[in-house]
Parts: sequence; structure tokens; C-alpha cells
Amino acid sequence: MQTTPSDTILVIGAGGQLGLELTHELRQRYGASNVVAADVRPPKDEATQESGPFELLDVLDKNRLEEVVRRYKPKQIYHLAALLSATAEKNPKFGWQLNMDGLFHVLDAAVDLGVQQVYWPSSIAVFGPDTPRANTPQLTVMNPNTVYGISKLAGEQWCEWYFRKHGLDVRSLRYPGLIGYKSLPGGGTTDYAVDIYHKAVTGQRYECFLQENTYLPMMYMPDALKATLDLMHAPADQINIRSSYNLGAMSFSPAEVTASIRRHYPDFQVSYQPDSRQQIADSWPASIDDTAARQQWSWQPDYDLDRMTDDMLVNLKQQLTVSV
Ligand code: SER
Repeated sequence: MQTTPSDTILVIGAGGQLGLELTHELRQRYGASNVVAADVRPPKDEATQESGPFELLDVLDKNRLEEVVRRYKPKQIYHLAALLSATAEKNPKFGWQLNMDGLFHVLDAAVDLGVQQVYWPSSIAVFGPDTPRANTPQLTVMNPNTVYGISKLAGEQWCEWYFRKHGLDVRSLRYPGLIGYKSLPGGGTTDYAVDIYHKAVTGQRYECFLQENTYLPMMYMPDALKATLDLMHAPADQINIRSSYNLGAMSFSPAEVTASIRRHYPDFQVSYQPDSRQQIADSWPASIDDTAARQQWSWQPDYDLDRMTDDMLVNLKQQLTVSV
């Protein structure tokens, strides 16, 4: 579907790490009044609240979701509300409920109320300890062993089912760890790769909750936004995968990101105190084969580790100067 400037877009989970940035990007492209931000919590700052329409919405409240969809008649829904890996391990039943029921509510509302397109994020967490870790293929052994991963894999299959049974144009990406300076992640296993930059610019040492040699697939936020919007804008006949696409950009370890930061802060100190998140990281891929995304809708990342580091540090430093 080609989105025209007057089409309305609903972003659910707009206050989250990805939601904040995606809402901002969509508002830039399509006009603030055409992008409805919805979240279970009110916006943290007035700027976000005032930059466009906002609705308080718990996606587990199906009636309220339908009310919002009826009111704005969005052509697209980006459904981003979920518990991430570490948090879902601590609240397994709620993690399952939010991640699955939330998805069903959105898919059903889309079918029943005529929403044309749905975007739903999946994750590298759909893979598990039996999966080949290096250059993990699109189609391979999955067997995720976290609540989050199980919910994402089940969700992928349901997205595909809604596409086949209902013709719903639902699209999805398996994000790697996402890193950005504008928003903070919450409750994920890849969060260290955001935290570490914040510590570096504020002159603190960092205690990393993963071992120094733990490689995970990662991506800088501008690439994640580009991939998401490119996927959503690709002609439907180029989208041959209706579960979720592998998506890669870079792979690094805590030791490597530390070295990248030390190019700017030579005295930056990092120590390692692995916790329960180590086990989760060990069950995930180290790097991703995203050939299908590259071939079918021309996916190409712009940022490698050092380029991301340079940009993160400049922007975080600037934020610090502004807030002092
Ligand atoms: N970044 C997520 C997490 O760590 C994975 O999708 O839970």
C-alpha cells in the first residue's frame, strides 16, 4: 500500500524505545496530525503530547482499542507494545498475555474494522539454543526458550495465518538489538549496548551484565526506522515472507563496543558481572543472514559499529549539554 499524506496511522506502544522514534519519523513524513500515538502511559514530556494526537490505550482492552480505531479509521497500525525478553522471564504469564492477546486484538480489529496494513515487530529471540548461531538463516531450527521468544515465534505464525485466511496485509521484521540516543530500552537483553554509551559520556564506569565476548546482532535506530518504513512501503508482490524477515546490520561483543567507545574516551572503564540475561544472550544468534530482505525489498543498512558510536556519542553529549 502506498501511504498518501492524508492517511491516518496509529502507533500502539508509542512511548517505548522504538515507538517514540517511529512516531517522530512518521510525523515528519506524513504530518503530525495524521499520526496517532497511543500508549498505556501518558507521554513523559509535553513536547511529545503536543506534537500530535495522543490516546491513552491498553492494548489488552479490546473495546478501547476498537473505539480508537473507529474514531481515527487508520489505514495502518504499528503495534509495538510488548514485554521484552528479561522482563517477560520475570512475569511469564503477563508477558505471554500482553504479547499474544495484544496481537490478537490488533489483528482482529484490523480485519473487522477495515485497517489495510499492520506492522508488528518480531525479534532475534525467535531463535534458540539449537539454532546455528553464526549467520543464522531465515529458515532454520527455531526452538526459542524464553517467554518473549516463544510469544514472538507464535505471533509470527499468527501473522502469516491472518494474511492467508483474511488477506490482511501484515508485515514484520525480526529486529536485532536496537540502539538509539533518543529513547531508552526497557527490560531487554540487548539493553547494555545503549546503557554503555550513556555511562561513557557521563564519565562513569560501566558494569556490563553480559560477558565481554558475547556477540549479538545489533542495529542503529536510523537503520531500524529505514527498514521498517521500506518494508511497509514495498509493493505487496515483493513481500514473500509473511511471518517475519531476518534483518541484520552488525554484530559485536561488549569488548568490541568498549573498544569503539575508547577511540573517543580512552579512559572508559568497563567491568563484567553477567546475570540471568547471559543465558538469554547465549541462546540467541551471534549474527544474522538477511539475504531475503536484501533481495526482496532491497534492504541495506547504513551504519556499522564505529559509525554508530561516533553518532551516538556526539548526540548524547549534545543532549547532556542542553539538559545541564
Ligand atoms: N532487544 C530485545 C531484547 O533484548 C530483543 O528483541 O529483549
